[in-house]
Amino acid sequence: MSAAHLVRRFLGSLRPGGPPKGEVAWVGAQLLPGERALWEAMPGPDRRHSALVARRVEAALGAEATRPVLAAALLHDVGKATSGLRTPGRVVATLTAGILGRERVVGWDSAIGRYVRHDVDGARLLEGAGSDPLTVAWAREHHQPASTWTVPAPLAAALKAADDD
Ligand SMILES: [Fe+2]
Ligand SMILES: [Fe+2]
Repeated sequence: MSAAHLVRRFLGSLRPGGPPKGEVAWVGAQLLPGERALWEAMPGPDRRHSALVARRVEAALGAEATRPVLAAALLHDVGKATSGLRTPGRVVATLTAGILGRERVVGWDSAIGRYVRHDVDGARLLEGAGSDPLTVAWAREHHQPASTWTVPAPLAAALKAADDD
């Protein structure tokens, strides 16, 4: 990922507001009621990122992009909302984890700890919302090495490729 790309993502994520109305309706049609509540609680930039990733997955997979796969694309980062961190705090969290190592930071009872374990926390939230096992698994696995994925490889590869963060 280039520095220019990171700067663009950073500046873009400072802009408030969710995706356009038409996208919100499309997203709503892909999600279970409990999932929809979680999605609506995500900050605007996260909802924009989420819809973009899901549209890319839909384009890449066609008929293979079933509802649980699209829900995985839409909700893989849902655990980030729990941290309460917005863009500047997330930069600090990412740097902290990079310097000290994820293993040192992941258990912290703080916003940074919660941000760094958004994969684990997100999977738990989705379980509670009654998500499909594939949706739950992708939230848990999306920062893990491909060799450990339980999500079928072609689906996981498309989900990963669509996610530019
Ligand atoms: Fe993530
Ligand atoms: Fe993401």
